[in-house]
Amino acid sequence: MKDLRGNTVSGADTASLSLFEQAQAELQCYVGDPVATIDRAIAAAPRFTMAHLFKAYVFLAGTEAAGLPTARDCRAAAVALPTNARERQHIAAVDALIAGEYDQASERLEDILLDHPRDALALQIGHVFDYFRGDARTLRDRVARVLPEWSSEVPGYHAVLGMQAFGLEECGEYGRAEEAGRKAVELNPTDAWAHHAVAHVLEMQGRIGEGLAWMGSRQEYWAPRNFFAVHNWWHWALFHLDRDEHTHVLDLYDGPIREATSKVVLDMIDASALLWRLHLRGIDVGARWTEIAESWAPLAQDGFYAFNDCHAMMAFVGAGRWDLADAALVAMAKSVEQPGSNAAMSETVGLPVARALHAFGRGKYGTVIELLRPVRTIANRFGGSHAQRDLLDLTLIEAACRDNQVSLVRALARERLAARPASPLNQRYLKAAQPSRAAA
Ligand SMILES: [Fe+2]
Repeated sequence: MKDLRGNTVSGADTASLSLFEQAQAELQCYVGDPVATIDRAIAAAPRFTMAHLFKAYVFLAGTEAAGLPTARDCRAAAVALPTNARERQHIAAVDALIAGEYDQASERLEDILLDHPRDALALQIGHVFDYFRGDARTLRDRVARVLPEWSSEVPGYHAVLGMQAFGLEECGEYGRAEEAGRKAVELNPTDAWAHHAVAHVLEMQGRIGEGLAWMGSRQEYWAPRNFFAVHNWWHWALFHLDRDEHTHVLDLYDGPIREATSKVVLDMIDASALLWRLHLRGIDVGARWTEIAESWAPLAQDGFYAFNDCHAMMAFVGAGRWDLADAALVAMAKSVEQPGSNAAMSETVGLPVARALHAFGRGKYGTVIELLRPVRTIANRFGGSHAQRDLLDLTLIEAACRDNQVSLVRALARERLAARPASPLNQRYLKAAQPSRAAA
């Protein structure tokens, strides 16, 4: 049998293939429950190889050690079944992800797309891990390589445009990114990734009013039943933060961002990042730190993925949980010795950032500056988006302010104002650095 994009699949029947397509459509929009749907496909056709591999990918894409056992079980189920060449390539990609070899996995997923450019799953998983690897060029070009093989006639085209939009945005091609993202949501309004790509464009260009309107006017499409919604709510909160509307930010935090006290790492990242930004502004977020630190606590010693570890560190520092903060530093140092892509991520970016966050909490602002200055321009190596990693620049400039390094504050403020001239925060930093210039 063939899927809707012409890829041959082993072990499926009509009913299970239809459920596989449904699961894939859900994953593309981050809507519903693709795991429940793929479980139904597996129940209908236990020998459906790609259904097992789909489930493995979903558990691996959470970047949590807790996802590994299920991924391994799914992989074991798939290898015991008849496979075609494409499915064996998927198994190789899953193997690389299970081993934590993200760069290798990226290449294996690319290999699949060379001969099967309409393999939507290979494209999406490749894209997601390009984001986790902070590889902006591949975020853009992985999509560019296959795009001519797609059109609005092919099911899932909106998702390809949404990925194109995010890749272009991360490469700074904002005009084309916005165009692709808007086209994607015209084709499928519930495409939360495409919606999010446009939110990134508006954030990066400082188009705050448009950003708030974009989030608010389209809420019915990206928020309900959506497991990416917390991140889109986080983007909404960033627009309010850009306007110094801290009460709105806290309302969003206490509401859709954190009211469910989700233990999903990707949700906890957004919570930590938002509280840290408020913390840098001197805003007391109170017991919110305690809750998010306790939510991160079971993962403190995982050392699984440096980007997550640093967000856990924010919570530990914010809550004054030095026991957990110290344990996390030890775990991250150990992960440098482990196999897999995370070793280099931790060594080059994760550990210096985590130590800087730790030092910030201890009031050692000179140390923060020493640690962050060399790392901030290569911080993409531990993944995330420009908008997320801006937190490092914000931490640096605030540390420079508190350490009274006026020339550095002025330089960093000018750098920020060149990109976002209307930002009240950036203007405040420049103003804070002005007296020294007058004195000089
Ligand atoms: Fe984002």
